[in-house]
Amino acid sequence: MPFTRRAFCTGLAALPLSRPAWAQETPLLTARPATVQLAPEGYPATEVWGYDGRLPGPQIRVPQGSRLSRRLVNGLQVPTSVHWHGIRIDNAMDGVAGLTQDPVPPGGRFDYAFELPDAGTFWYHAHTNSMEQVARGLSGALIVEESTPPDIDRDEVLMLDDWLLDPETGRFAGDFGNPMMRSHAGRLGNLLGINGRYDFSLEARQNERLRLRLINAANARIFMLRLEGMVGWTVALDGMPLAQPEPVSTEIILAPAQRVDLIVDVTAEAGTPAALLSYADDDSWQALAEVTVTGPKSSARRAAPAPLPPNPRMDVPGVAEAELREMRMEGGAMRGMTSGRFEGQDMDFQRLVQRGQFWALSGQVGRGEAPFARYTLGETARIRWVNDTVFPHAMHLHGMHFRTVAADGSQGPMRDTLLVKPQESAEVAFVADNPGKWLLHCHMLGHAASGMTTWIEVA
Ligand code: C2O
Ligand code: CU
Repeated sequence: MPFTRRAFCTGLAALPLSRPAWAQETPLLTARPATVQLAPEGYPATEVWGYDGRLPGPQIRVPQGSRLSRRLVNGLQVPTSVHWHGIRIDNAMDGVAGLTQDPVPPGGRFDYAFELPDAGTFWYHAHTNSMEQVARGLSGALIVEESTPPDIDRDEVLMLDDWLLDPETGRFAGDFGNPMMRSHAGRLGNLLGINGRYDFSLEARQNERLRLRLINAANARIFMLRLEGMVGWTVALDGMPLAQPEPVSTEIILAPAQRVDLIVDVTAEAGTPAALLSYADDDSWQALAEVTVTGPKSSARRAAPAPLPPNPRMDVPGVAEAELREMRMEGGAMRGMTSGRFEGQDMDFQRLVQRGQFWALSGQVGRGEAPFARYTLGETARIRWVNDTVFPHAMHLHGMHFRTVAADGSQGPMRDTLLVKPQESAEVAFVADNPGKWLLHCHMLGHAASGMTTWIEVA
């Protein structure tokens, strides 16, 4: 029977007024094994663990102020969970197995849903046995867009990573519990790449203006980067806009989990080299991303970029009056391991090493029952990290961003992960305005897994 107008309208009216079922369903994010060609052609492919079977996982892009929901489906043989790194998130959605949620068992699911107060470059990654799960590929970019985007021609997300592969088999090499790696600099890869490709490249035109969102997703590698054939400004760190764009004049240091947003102008002429260079283990500068310059986009360069619009709650008042707590980073090869003692506390050192624990934070090995500190909601917190080891550490606080505080009390950029060099100290302050239990750890994931993890409580 043909549809008459009348029948059509009646049919519509008969539909329930609520939203259809498909619109209510939470989009899935499935952690599962997959086969990916990470190594150059001619070498075997690699069995990875990826979100939706991809490495990196799907890029999630959402507007600032919106709500993000994803249903994690665990298609792995091991428990897992997702952490939304850098989001000032609801504590229950923070994804830390054993602290903010139970790990999701194989075949299980977990619904994540939360607000996104800040625009910026963030990422998501596994936070159950992260040492192994992130190394196997469980991470992806999370981009929160400003309502008024900056004046650029293109926005590119570059997830920097390194993989430790056995060239014979294509498999991830070594065992993830390797005590040599854990007690030294961490698991460093033998193949560097961007967005899952060792030969990542971009095409651009002369005088084109790009926003490059760099994310260090590596387990332990500190990337040292340079621009070639491009002139750039740093406009945000760890998602948080700088008050003024800063010209890139020296190397860019990107520690594990850190992000930097650059606005770059391609200055190279067509056919001449342009690249994002990375300092390689053999002391040379190698192109991590080659930029193939085609014809000119325009004949003239533009004026320096304007700052990105600030995010809410970026002020940290009352630092001078705040109680200063010191957190000592201790242990590791060539120091704590041989001394048999962590600062301030005698320990049964042999037993710790047998358990694969090599690091401590102020005498505490791993996440204990009690938090490192308790803060009253709204209080200004102040921490001095003292690195008493011979390795650099990338200290990351969940749930809140801090500002660095210089000796004269002046405040630096707002970020969520800070590199503290060996034998140096660094002071940070933040407003403890997000209630809950928040992890604080080194983002060299082998260090975090072997003692360098603690937590704070805000209530
Ligand atoms: Cu990027 Cu505790 O995490
Ligand atoms: Cu560390």
